[in-house]
Amino acid sequence: KERKLILAIETSCDETSVAVVENGEKLLSNVVASQVKSHQRFGGIVPEVASRHHVEQITLLLDEALSEADVRAEELSAVAVTYGPGLVGALLIGVCAAKAFAWANQIPLIPVNHMAGHIYAAKVEAKLAFPLLALLVSGGHTELVYMENDGKYEIVGETRDDAAGEAYDKVGRVMGIKYPSGKEIDELAHIGDDTFHFPRAMMNEDNFDFSFSGLKSAFINTVHNAEQREEILSKVDLSASFQAAVVDVLAEKTMRCLQKFPAKSLVVAGGVAANQGLRERLEQEVSQLQEEVKLIIPPIRLCGDNAGMIGVAAFIEAEKGNFANLDLNAIPSLSL
Ligand code: KG4
Ligand code: ZN
Repeated sequence: KERKLILAIETSCDETSVAVVENGEKLLSNVVASQVKSHQRFGGIVPEVASRHHVEQITLLLDEALSEADVRAEELSAVAVTYGPGLVGALLIGVCAAKAFAWANQIPLIPVNHMAGHIYAAKVEAKLAFPLLALLVSGGHTELVYMENDGKYEIVGETRDDAAGEAYDKVGRVMGIKYPSGKEIDELAHIGDDTFHFPRAMMNEDNFDFSFSGLKSAFINTVHNAEQREEILSKVDLSASFQAAVVDVLAEKTMRCLQKFPAKSLVVAGGVAANQGLRERLEQEVSQLQEEVKLIIPPIRLCGDNAGMIGVAAFIEAEKGNFANLDLNAIPSLSL
């Protein structure tokens, strides 16, 4: 059987990453350069700083990914790149690098949607069975996506305001936790208790949409009111209460969605899929179902942004015959 090797590039946000993926499932290399430290002092991502870091890193990472995979450029069958959604300047660095690479090596160019990449990270963990329901939770997105088949996406629910990861980062800031704060809040939550009982938005509405801005405001008001009373609230209990509210809503809506859109696999993907509380809760919920549903969550290292997942999704695009010309542009608000 012929070996299909795809070189994949991801630069949509604050991680520069290049990977070599074999036959759409095996990661021969997946190099990630995080810029997190450069953005931390600003409390969030500065787009211009992100673009500059990508420019500095991209050619180095291309070499590193190829040498780590022990693959020569001539052996590649295609180059894939994230062309949206994301920061336009950041995306453009990857798109330009991919176009130059495709042209120089005379190989096809595959355009990949970043969110499709997050879903397909699950394929590295286990075989995907369709129909599939995916809960996509990242810093920029919170969506329920139904897939009848490979490469076919239907958004059946989404956030009306903040994304789940964004909410984590904003309440983290109020507690003085470094950006991105999801991981640390997750750890603190495991020590604390849900003593604040923050609101669970849209729980009783008959849809699969989410809203996190009310929870965020309730959290911030609680902390500010306490400050006025010169009272210091327990960080672990605040974290546990916030996380309980987020996990309750995500799990409840996902399980309800599964009733309406019966699926063989439930995939949880994106940066927030690394959340221990969410993973445990969904494992427990799925184990109690009558019908058999396979819960697939990528390993933690593949939950955050990386090019490996882009290479896996690219294989599906190639099978669909979805290639791009050298006039490919970045689309910051690309949807599935
Ligand atoms: O998918 P991702 O790496 O980048 C985007 O495409 O947005 O997601 C980053 C987000 C950040 O908001 C970060 O705080 C959150 O994922 N995150 C977590 C955890 N690890 C990362 N949120 C909750 N619990 C975690 N363990
Ligand atoms: Zn992402």
